[in-house]
Amino acid sequence: MKENIKLGYEIKTGKVISINPSHLIVTGITQLSGKTTTLEALIKRSRLKAVIFKTKIGEKSFTEGIETAPFFRDRSDYEFVKSLIEAYAKEKLFLEKGTLMRLCKGSASLIEIKKRVDEELASGKLRGLKEEIHTRLQHYLENLIPQIQYANLSKTLDIREGINIMNLERFSEEAQSLIIQSVADEVLKTMKGVIIVIPEAWKFLPQKYNNPCKRVVESFIRQGATNQNFVWIDSQDMAGVDKIPLKQISTWILGYQSERNEVKHTLDQISLPKKLKPTEEEIMTLKKGHFFLSCYEGVYSVYVQPSWLNDEDAIKIAKGKLDVDKIEVPDNLTPYSRPIQEREQSKVEIRFDDSKIRKDLIGLRTDFFNKIQELQNFEQKLAEQVYNLKSQTHEINEDELISKILQKIPTFNNTSIDKDSIIKEVLMRVPKSMGNVVYEVAPVEKIKKDFLEEAKQKILSDISTLSNNAKRTLKYLESRNVGCSVAEICIKGFMYKDGGGGYSKIVNDSMKELSGILVGEKQTNGKCFGRLRDRIKQLLEVQEAKPEEIEQVYNHILMDMLK
Ligand SMILES: Nc1ncnc2c1ncn2[C@@H]1O[C@H](COP(=O)(O)OP(=O)(O)OP(=O)(O)O)[C@@H](O)[C@H]1O
Ligand SMILES: [Mg+2]
Repeated sequence: MKENIKLGYEIKTGKVISINPSHLIVTGITQLSGKTTTLEALIKRSRLKAVIFKTKIGEKSFTEGIETAPFFRDRSDYEFVKSLIEAYAKEKLFLEKGTLMRLCKGSASLIEIKKRVDEELASGKLRGLKEEIHTRLQHYLENLIPQIQYANLSKTLDIREGINIMNLERFSEEAQSLIIQSVADEVLKTMKGVIIVIPEAWKFLPQKYNNPCKRVVESFIRQGATNQNFVWIDSQDMAGVDKIPLKQISTWILGYQSERNEVKHTLDQISLPKKLKPTEEEIMTLKKGHFFLSCYEGVYSVYVQPSWLNDEDAIKIAKGKLDVDKIEVPDNLTPYSRPIQEREQSKVEIRFDDSKIRKDLIGLRTDFFNKIQELQNFEQKLAEQVYNLKSQTHEINEDELISKILQKIPTFNNTSIDKDSIIKEVLMRVPKSMGNVVYEVAPVEKIKKDFLEEAKQKILSDISTLSNNAKRTLKYLESRNVGCSVAEICIKGFMYKDGGGGYSKIVNDSMKELSGILVGEKQTNGKCFGRLRDRIKQLLEVQEAKPEEIEQVYNHILMDMLK
């Protein structure tokens, strides 16, 4: 049996307070309680290995640790895929079990499932609920698979002594869930003495819907302790967190919370007799780094000793002789250091350690993705600027020009001057406007130009009357450029959970708006089309607008709707 882990010192008495190695939960309001500091101190003093996940960009995390590559093992069994979809849809779904089971059965990976879904949809034989399940699945997998494929996820879980940090900042919540699930599963099956720290329990162990992490955390809590594998939960409060795992955790470290309801809710989740819990008032008056330890042995008021604070000062704070806000917090200890693995070095076996290269690769890849994103943003801005420039027609006031020329021409009474040819000559020397369509100076042309301008304005003003939903529908249809079902627009264009009654009404209404101004069409077979380009052509082509001009107006309208 492992020895107890020192948590800190009891308030007033200064007595050392320790905990048994076990599953535990740390709660408390952000930044004002000190949950991460508590977990870090406990991990260090436990001398166990730990995996922590960085899930938010810029999150203040552990000050020390080794970064390790995100690990993922592909699964494609029914339970897993179901939990995945439910995590994505953010609700419990009553999926038709048979369809999903058939898709998962015998498949080796998510990619294979995706292939099957694609094929069935392409066959065109699916109808109703079946079609909806397939469309939905296709959508989720389309989003998830690239993240898993291109993220250089490691196929081996490399866990070293101390704190192992898995940086998941750049993944979507769903991909993060997959990775956390994979890591917990692997640890449970193959390792001993590893703590898994689950961040933001409401996200990864949600109460109302499913998530791939839920099952594995439950197994972890049931089976982990025999191998000294523990799950430690870091969560502000317990609102929205699944009750089942909570009931089985009996070590709670409760920090400051300010909302009476949240405190009450948290205390309600602790399955210990009332006398082993602090009161609401007690929680609401806690200071930073001060926690209540609530466990089978009793309830203790503790000052948690951070890993960077010496015993003497920690005792002073516990006894109330030193203010916790007066102590200096070291800024960054040794961020992400890679401790020298002395024991490993002395091994005779020579093994190529590629973890550094892998880490660099991950870094490079992240940079690459960021750069692409930057480029895309830049490109969009550029396109906007170019359009603006182009649309500022360099207006040349021909009448004025002509009258000025006429004034300069001396009047020769006898000689007949061909005014027209002079004017023509001069106009030929006037610089043509850059980028935009150039109009010859002739009355008919001028009229044409005015009509063209008017047609453009007409489309722009029509579009501006559209509701946001109609604009969104149009954007989606234009991006697809093929006939789409109402259900598809609901699910993929609006990200609704399905294409049912209320949602399909929104899309149908939008389609009515679009067809009202002739930029969309819903055919009798239910397929919807975007007709923006056709409409522009129709209005502009009679005035002999050039294809570039039509394209320009089209892009301008799309750009306008993106704002
Ligand atoms: N026991 C402690 N003694 C002194 N200072 C502490 C203690 N615990 C935390 N702090 C300080 O309080 C600040 C917040 O701590 P920490 O990051 O641990 O909070 P948190 O509860 O994890 O917040 P979040 O919910 O935002 O993650 C940090 O600056 C930390 O150094
Ligand atoms: Mg924290």
